[in-house]
Amino acid sequence: MKHLFAIGAVYLDTILSVSSFPAEDSKLRATQIQVRRGGNVSNSLEVLKQLLEQWAREKVKLHLISTLPEKGSPALESIRSSFSASGGELDLETCLYREGCQQPASSYIIRNASTSSRTIVNYNDLPEMSVEEFAGILSNFKGDGGGESWWHFEGRIPDVTLECIKLVRKSLPTAIVSVEIEKPGREGLQALAAEADMVFYSRSYAESTGESRETFPSFLQRQAAGTTCKASIGAGDTFIAGVLYSAMWHGADWDAKGIVSFAVELASRKVQQEGFGGLGAEVKKEFPRYFDQ
Ligand SMILES: *[C@@H]1O[C@H](CO)[C@@H](O)[C@H](O)[C@H]1NC(C)=O
Ligand SMILES: *[C@@H]1O[C@H](CO)[C@@H](O)[C@H](O)[C@H]1NC(C)=O
Repeated sequence: MKHLFAIGAVYLDTILSVSSFPAEDSKLRATQIQVRRGGNVSNSLEVLKQLLEQWAREKVKLHLISTLPEKGSPALESIRSSFSASGGELDLETCLYREGCQQPASSYIIRNASTSSRTIVNYNDLPEMSVEEFAGILSNFKGDGGGESWWHFEGRIPDVTLECIKLVRKSLPTAIVSVEIEKPGREGLQALAAEADMVFYSRSYAESTGESRETFPSFLQRQAAGTTCKASIGAGDTFIAGVLYSAMWHGADWDAKGIVSFAVELASRKVQQEGFGGLGAEVKKEFPRYFDQ
């Protein structure tokens, strides 16, 4: 049995579609409202869950490590049910339930329907995970017999994340660590990248480092051009799920190009739909060759 632990924030997003962006201190009627669960690693987990449902279900266990509202709160119930909607299993016992906190981490997104611009206001008063809390989760896993594991971090709070990665290294020397590097200008992210086995850079981060497109292999460039032209919410998270899935379960029989091709095809499938529902089944139907073995 292999284990994937994904560490990051879970948000409840409220998306208001408007026909044009409101002026300050003005009033506007939205054309649509959507509420959905967001948060980078939880989106990736949702996709992974579906992929594993199609293949390797008994071989892999997925765990989320995130701070969540207290048990019994309505927000927690919405979060839980958002995960159970589309097949596959996910362990939420490794989450930290914050007593006295009723509100989830929240994003209010104003989406300009004509331009697809997104203006985001966040609210999050859940106390962040401490290094000690992470150490507790890690030692429970070890105490449980451990096993092969992969630890995927959202690079949110670099100093804490760095300590957590070091703990993983120390207690599970064969574990694999990956990290998402998203926000340009956030200090300490390079140190995280240096500690990880695999790093996912956002486009804005890559561009901010002055890394020119010419330095990427042309294969990746072409693929990236194909997916980003129709970038949609969750496409990047889906791409990451595709890489984690194939690197973890096909690392021995697929080369880097095979891994990236699968992730790109998965993400391309994602941009054709809203949300993540049915993605695993779709991709299996469309690309059976990735699943037959
Ligand atoms: C939203 O779309 C309208 C129509 O294209 C445009 O005039 C306006 O500038 C856009 N607002 C923002 C904030 O992108
Ligand atoms: C992570 O989430 C944010 C907010 O929804 C989004 O803008 C960003 O593209 C996501 N990252 C990836 C890799 O998809």
